Amino acid sequence: MSSYDLTRFLAADHFSHALRHDVQHGLTASPKTLPPKWFYDTRGSELFEEITRLPEYYPTRAERGILMSRARAIAAITQARTLVELGSGSSEKTRLLLDALRELGTLETYVPVDVSESALDAAGKALAVEFPSLAVHAVVSDFTHGLDLPTGPGPKIVAFLGGTLGNLLPEERAEFLSALRGMLDPGDFLLLGTDLVKDPKVLVAAYDDTAGVTAAFNKNVLAVLNRELDADFDPAQFEHVALWDARQEWIEMRLRSTRAQSVKIRALDLAVHFEAGEEMRTEVSAKFRRTRVADELSAAGLRLSEWWTDSQGRFGLSLAVPR
Ligand code: AVJ
Repeated sequence: MSSYDLTRFLAADHFSHALRHDVQHGLTASPKTLPPKWFYDTRGSELFEEITRLPEYYPTRAERGILMSRARAIAAITQARTLVELGSGSSEKTRLLLDALRELGTLETYVPVDVSESALDAAGKALAVEFPSLAVHAVVSDFTHGLDLPTGPGPKIVAFLGGTLGNLLPEERAEFLSALRGMLDPGDFLLLGTDLVKDPKVLVAAYDDTAGVTAAFNKNVLAVLNRELDADFDPAQFEHVALWDARQEWIEMRLRSTRAQSVKIRALDLAVHFEAGEEMRTEVSAKFRRTRVADELSAAGLRLSEWWTDSQGRFGLSLAVPR
């Protein structure tokens, strides 16, 4: 009796328009930037899955640890009938929540939302088989462009896990949290995962692993531009950079041009010059403290009601409610 469907919630050309816009804007700015969402084509999603298994990349394991010990409490508190998961990716940690909610018997609908159709479709189909009594409605969407999504019966949990909130810049984050608040009715919950401030050596190692998987993930964005925009980036002419910005309290990933070079982006009729050593920012991954999470939630009309961390205090999981 398992049920599964997938909705592309955006115009067919949404991604190509958004990519063109982001690349035109970001590569003509100074310093050059690219938004991190363009990492996640099929290859990029695979590389990210590989990152989550690296010894240095602790956030996934830390968050899973919290969910393992708290999933039953989350189920008991929320009594959720619907679970909406933004940026679900492989939905791997979600199983813990789905198991706990199934045990309680309240859950009817699971709505995984992701930009990567390949990762979403594979995970959604598998979950529909594993949870035969669950209606799985997968939604391909770009949640940085609005959260006007189909959901399901309340009470619902909107989950935004993995620390992906940290990929947004502070103003984008405020706007996004307000949009999340707008999705919630009284009695609904936001479940938010945030990586926490810690020893910069630990943080930098998590984004600059010795096996070079994060470097390959970072450079994959160049392959995306080559394929989607008929560009001629040579990934070998760029180096992976990960650094801790202590003032902003975020990790920044960059690609550094190893020599002066000019890159053609034919679909935009654009030539982009890089100086030798010039760095282009490809990702910000903000790290939080509990007070900052509570304050930012509050500014968005949400109240932090539960705060859990892993045993080593590396990662935070928040349960918040409309104020
Ligand atoms: C999936 C956005 C949470 O910021 O840690 C992993 C992405 N980037 N290694 C993060 C990422 C480099 C990851 N998020």
